[in-house]
Amino acid sequence: MTDRHVLITGATRGLGRSLAEHYLAQGDTVIGCGRGPSPLNHERYVHACVDVADEAAVKALFADLRRRVDRLDALINNAGIASMNLMALTPVDVARRIMETNFLARSCSRRARSASCGARNTRGL
Ligand SMILES: NC(=O)c1ccc[n+]([C@@H]2O[C@H](COP(=O)([O-])OP(=O)(O)OC[C@H]3O[C@@H](n4cnc5c(N)ncnc54)[C@H](OP(=O)(O)O)[C@@H]3O)[C@@H](O)[C@H]2O)c1
Repeated sequence: MTDRHVLITGATRGLGRSLAEHYLAQGDTVIGCGRGPSPLNHERYVHACVDVADEAAVKALFADLRRRVDRLDALINNAGIASMNLMALTPVDVARRIMETNFLARSCSRRARSASCGARNTRGL
């Protein structure tokens, strides 16, 4: 078991879920988020239902994290969505949602930087 704390956005399925399982297997503590619940059930896994495009929800997540852990060692900003439509055929609300999720949801990175201030050696993560 390590004392590293890894935050993974979009951990409910796909790559994010696999990454969460990888770090749990390494002995790390993983904080995962997604809009929905997680199928992961592990003593070192903490899940938060958070939409990364919702600034207030991200702020609340980091406020909660500060109470739970003394620092973050890594952020894997994995949450994202895609639409396989041609741009001209993509409805405006879908395009807006993609931009909000994939490009504008930067507050996770910004907040993670301040939360990682006390991080020790993270080589090998
Ligand atoms: N798979 C590929 O071939 C590929 C290729 C290039 C890039 N990528 C990128 O790699 C990342 C993961 O891909 P994937 O294939 O594993 O995707 P996926 O299976 O669709 O999983 C996406 C994850 O992101 C979460 N998510 C989506 N929107 C969110 C939001 N607004 N707030 C919080 N969580 C959100 C989803 O959880 P909820 O639905 O519960 O919110 C889910 O856990 C994505 O950013 C994707 O664009 C993937």
